[in-house]
Amino acid sequence: MNIVEKFKEIYGDCENVREYFSPGRVNLIGEHTDYNGGHVFPCALTIGTHGAARKRDDKKIHFYSVNLDEVGVIEASLDDLTNHNEYSWANYPLGVVWAFAERGLKLDTGFDMCIYGTIPNGSGLSSSASLEVLTGTILRDLYGFDDLTMTDLALIGQFSENNFNGCNCGIMDQFAVAMGKKDCAIFLDTSDLSYEYANIKLPDAKIVITNSKVKHSLVDSAYNDRRNECATALADLQKVVDIKALGDLDNETFEKYADAIKDETNRLRAHHAVYENQRTIEAVKALKENDIETFGKLMNASHVSLRDDYAVSCEEIDILVEEAWKIPGVIGSRITGGGFGGCTVSIVKNDAVDVFQEELGKVYKEKTGIDAEFYVVEIGDGARRI
Ligand code: GLA
Repeated sequence: MNIVEKFKEIYGDCENVREYFSPGRVNLIGEHTDYNGGHVFPCALTIGTHGAARKRDDKKIHFYSVNLDEVGVIEASLDDLTNHNEYSWANYPLGVVWAFAERGLKLDTGFDMCIYGTIPNGSGLSSSASLEVLTGTILRDLYGFDDLTMTDLALIGQFSENNFNGCNCGIMDQFAVAMGKKDCAIFLDTSDLSYEYANIKLPDAKIVITNSKVKHSLVDSAYNDRRNECATALADLQKVVDIKALGDLDNETFEKYADAIKDETNRLRAHHAVYENQRTIEAVKALKENDIETFGKLMNASHVSLRDDYAVSCEEIDILVEEAWKIPGVIGSRITGGGFGGCTVSIVKNDAVDVFQEELGKVYKEKTGIDAEFYVVEIGDGARRI
């Protein structure tokens, strides 16, 4: 797909058009910790969202997606930066224009934009964060907002998703998409956005994503519920211990004060948030020591906690993970992303990758009737102009 050619086909010519790319992401460990002041360990993929754009002379903004050709060109205006149902997917890039304006970065003229995404729909590999950071990258470049850093673009993307599109997500996805680096995962401390890159190019193993092809409808509402449950647990804990976030606690201190959390469900949620944060710190330490076996065990423990304590897995995902654990050469396997469907991430020894796909694909089909999809991951760079 040549995105500039497509731009020309849709908008008539391609003079002054610029080309951009923004990746999707997969998280290796550290799930549902990013809104609890904990650590995450995601990486950017080489699949993502391609974009072509140029400024216009008037106030109109035009959006077109090759993936949703049937929707056609969506027209919005700088004079009305509000969310409209009929804008459909374009509410994501429009939300970013709005978030720029909220920061005092107002556009003098509109623009035409054409996108093409290679992230499978509803897979939980962050197509929305990819699109938000793509839009931020385009606006910064076209309008010369050169002071904005990639971290700023991540925060703007998250702000627009929280306040324009109604999902109260944390910072992980936008940060990974903005800051990704080839062959590296990002060890991010969400309490202060400090981060370091860790090489994840494994000599004997590959990272394999398995798409369950299911997406249960409670994704957004249950996500916001989990956030509230954690916030309530934190408020209970703050009566007895001086902390700002659940991520401030180590496991021992949590156990000491856990009884202060009145509701049993909230206690389980907090248990996950605290232990998952500690697991993430431990996992990165193990990786640095080339101890991939320990890394894999921590991934498995992460899944158990997300399934039992955090209750964000589902039958199909549990089948994929639990069957993966039985396959020789699988170092670790877990649900990845927000939950309730989407994908699993596994670390699989090089010589087991083919068998893994065959066997897991077969048993998943037998048990669910669904053909899973597999992607052997390549880790790429963050959003950029091409
Ligand atoms: C979604 C959110 C992220 C993060 C994950 C769970 O992907 O967008 O901010 O909370 O779920 O780890």
